[in-house]
Amino acid sequence: MNLLRTKSVEQSIRDTEEPGHRLRRALSALDLTVFGVGVIVGTGIFVLTGQVARDNAGPAVALSFIFAAVVCGLAALCYAEFASTVPVAGSAYTFSYATLGEFPAWIIGWDLILEMALGAAVVAVGWSGYFASLLDGVGITLPTEIAGPPGEGGTVNVPAIVLVLLVTALLVFGIKISSRVNAVVVAIKVSVVLLVIVAGLFFVKGTNYDPFIPPSQSTPEVGGLDAPLMQVLFGVTPVAFGWLGIFSAVAIVFFAYIGFDIVATASEEARNPQRDLPIGLIGSLVITAILYAAVSTVVVGMQHYTELSTGAPLADAFEHAGHPAFATIIDVGAVVGLITVVMILLLGMSRIFFALSRDGLMPAWLSAVHPRFRTPYRSTIIMGVIVAVLAGFIPLAELATLVNIGTLFAFVVVSAAVVVLRRKRPDLPRAFRTPLVPLVPVLSVLACLFVMINLPVETWIRFLVWMAIGVVVYAAYGYRNSRLQRAGEPSGKQ
Ligand code: ALA
Repeated sequence: MNLLRTKSVEQSIRDTEEPGHRLRRALSALDLTVFGVGVIVGTGIFVLTGQVARDNAGPAVALSFIFAAVVCGLAALCYAEFASTVPVAGSAYTFSYATLGEFPAWIIGWDLILEMALGAAVVAVGWSGYFASLLDGVGITLPTEIAGPPGEGGTVNVPAIVLVLLVTALLVFGIKISSRVNAVVVAIKVSVVLLVIVAGLFFVKGTNYDPFIPPSQSTPEVGGLDAPLMQVLFGVTPVAFGWLGIFSAVAIVFFAYIGFDIVATASEEARNPQRDLPIGLIGSLVITAILYAAVSTVVVGMQHYTELSTGAPLADAFEHAGHPAFATIIDVGAVVGLITVVMILLLGMSRIFFALSRDGLMPAWLSAVHPRFRTPYRSTIIMGVIVAVLAGFIPLAELATLVNIGTLFAFVVVSAAVVVLRRKRPDLPRAFRTPLVPLVPVLSVLACLFVMINLPVETWIRFLVWMAIGVVVYAAYGYRNSRLQRAGEPSGKQ
């Protein structure tokens, strides 16, 4: 068995030219940046800010956002080199196929499906919270049974299910429509975030920042499978607040940046990927990091961190300040804005499927492009239905940490792969070069691992189970049906 056979970079690029499997190259650098901001700004800033300020970081939550941005920034520098060298649908999956080999690539592809499918479910659930709050504002109260999953007082989250199915339909109709809709929605979302920053400044009270980093408190009730892996491995007791609290918040708010990596999944649809992808990746990350630090600083200044709401903290801070009209505007912005996030996550996921089945690791039937809409409609529809069910029945927090671990794992692999590809193919043209190799990739790997060990043992177990299923699927299908296998190409042809 040769699990490390690689697909050459040239072959990956040639595959994109195959008739019937071709995506349209329509996106500019600006489109890609908008695409990035569209998926990055979502449940993370709109929903998780309140939770982490209250439970982990206090008024210093902006520091957690900044540290998380640094972790993502290191990974983005690695992604940018890859995306500009191997501009093919599939992101980290394709990069790994060209460097580490087929089996690691499959593992990454499988991992990205987890990230994007569950990520879309998380955001749909966050959306349904704002949707319910908006309806509340106009006097309509959804019955709790149909507004939340089991375990959170409901039976099924109907709004989340409906949202996922509607977005799936949009995607089937094609990226052109989707990116136009996306641009408008991103503008609304960013305006709302700016509104919170500017209007919120007038309601900030200096006393709410005192103390900026509340003294640490131990949290002895966190044990067993809920304990972070770090506690189990090194006996570091998790603490709320203090500097350790700020770091434990990083493992959660990391979710708020997920999405810049997905810009790389659109590389095959970029007009000039070598130049535009690095701009899209790094640009969207920098913009959101600045917005997040500002928004979170303002919100904890408006309302004492112990009183922040966990459902709709940005809107509720204005409610608290006695300005329900602002709260309604923010609700509307979140409701409209989170739709794009679900849309782009599902789009990224369908592109991973597309790449996997084009390479024969999943049935080819899945990747056939619709004759009229030019989209891989089958995988989009099948996964849309699965995500809808997940969003309807699983609580948000359980999904979010799993998304984070999956994403961090992909970052680790991509960072390591930059070094590998530099050694194996020094000749390839690299429009963007990660600075200070191998220092930056090594720091990226270490930073991601540090955030990962701050996640609960239970999350690690779920992640490993998903990966084990992936190994079984590869052994049963992908290994035999892989295009490299069937073409009898010499393995490790680079
Ligand atoms: N970063 C995206 C969000 O926060 C996934 O919703």
